[in-house]
Amino acid sequence: MATRIIPVESSDMVIFGASGDLAQRKILPGLYHRLVAGQLPPTARIIGAARSKWNREEFQKKATESYFEFVPEHEQNPEIFKTFLNCLHYVPIDAMGNGGWDELTALVNDNPNPVRAFYLSVGPSLFGPISTRLSKTGIATPESRIVVEKPFGHDLASAKELNKQLGTCFKESQIYRIDHYLGKETVQNLMALRFANALLEPVWNSQHVDHVQISVSESIGVEGRGEYYDTSGAMRDMVQNHLMQLLCLTAMEPPAKFNADDVRDEKLKVIRSLDPVKPDDIVRGQYRASTHDGSYKDHAINPDSTTECFVALKVHISNWRWAGVPFYLRTGKKLRARMSEISVIFKDPPHSIFPQSERRHEGNSLVIRLQPDEGITMHMIIKEPGQGGFRLTEVPLDMSFAEALGDNGEHLADAYERLMMDVIRGDQTLFMRGDEVEAAWRWTDPIIANWSGEKPERYDQGSSGPDGSLALMHRDSRRWHAIEV
Ligand code: BG6
Repeated sequence: MATRIIPVESSDMVIFGASGDLAQRKILPGLYHRLVAGQLPPTARIIGAARSKWNREEFQKKATESYFEFVPEHEQNPEIFKTFLNCLHYVPIDAMGNGGWDELTALVNDNPNPVRAFYLSVGPSLFGPISTRLSKTGIATPESRIVVEKPFGHDLASAKELNKQLGTCFKESQIYRIDHYLGKETVQNLMALRFANALLEPVWNSQHVDHVQISVSESIGVEGRGEYYDTSGAMRDMVQNHLMQLLCLTAMEPPAKFNADDVRDEKLKVIRSLDPVKPDDIVRGQYRASTHDGSYKDHAINPDSTTECFVALKVHISNWRWAGVPFYLRTGKKLRARMSEISVIFKDPPHSIFPQSERRHEGNSLVIRLQPDEGITMHMIIKEPGQGGFRLTEVPLDMSFAEALGDNGEHLADAYERLMMDVIRGDQTLFMRGDEVEAAWRWTDPIIANWSGEKPERYDQGSSGPDGSLALMHRDSRRWHAIEV
């Protein structure tokens, strides 16, 4: 099935931090893909702004390097790439000082495209100074959008401060806080699955659901970014944002409409209904050295680090729909495989007519796979085929999106591509609102405060995490879905 492309308006996207890793790895290749798809018009301007004293040609050269590195060969199109290079402009800028601002203002005002977006692919300490400049120079109009990346704060106080700084220059309707998990195809499909099918909603509650598991397992470690990571840890880096968003979309009530405020209102209600987590319901871990790789502490370059790169926790949502249903969340680095999924495990039928001694199955569950191989699997119980008695077994009803939608080799837009087009379209549904981020920190802060100085449990690289995580489930007579691909 070919993807339907709806072109966006012509725009100026100014990328602060354009020489950085994210811009080179995701933003520029992503915009190129949208140009190839016919979604980004060739009249769009992509204006790099960074400390590097480059001119336009040097920026184009850098963009060419990232094109060859990050765009797969079969998706490279030299003709369209030439057009892409023409879209690129560059201004060396001093975010804290005066250098470059006049040039940027002149360039942006020179050819007013209908939409202006300012993408701050820079550290949060620059959000305030840059947004103040944008507003003072007048290049940020009342319709312009400002895009900010995570980490959005380190705790509630810093998130409030960032909201305040952005809020002095921009209205909430202009602020796009990125959580790239919201741009993933399957994450959006979770809403379609829940709210476009009448089948699931009647069983999506504590009467029928036994528990929910949300796992984001990564095979990479923190090497190369240990310095940042060690001040963050899995709770801040993954749970407060990505896993929280998955939890919200799984648990929220149907919004009145699929629009930014209705969806975000419902997510906010979920966060506000989260109970504080008991210390016994949290497991923190750090990976050990393996025979050919260093330990977390080696990668973090801190021999005394007590920062967790694995966390598992049991969470309760105190509301009418979910009272009594535990949500188990886990995420970690250097685990067995890169695999992210949400599993909704249903209760057994109220009465079994089949002998329990013959039980060889886990029961019904719905698994929503985010990566790799995005798709949905419903585990059903059937009769074991063949003669010799009536035994039950479990079979997966498997739907891989690539197969179901006819994988025609077409490039599928990644999370950043989708989110950047939403910025230009002015659709905030898949972005975090300020009050939502603050509520998430309000819940996260006491958890982190509680464990200060506590040592994380060690686990083997390539495993499923520390033993404590298995015990967390075992205690409740449950077990994690296997981490496998
Ligand atoms: C980022 C985290 O936000 O998400 C990283 O900072 C993590 O630590 C990454 O590796 C995971 O994203 P994805 O899309 O690869 O699952």
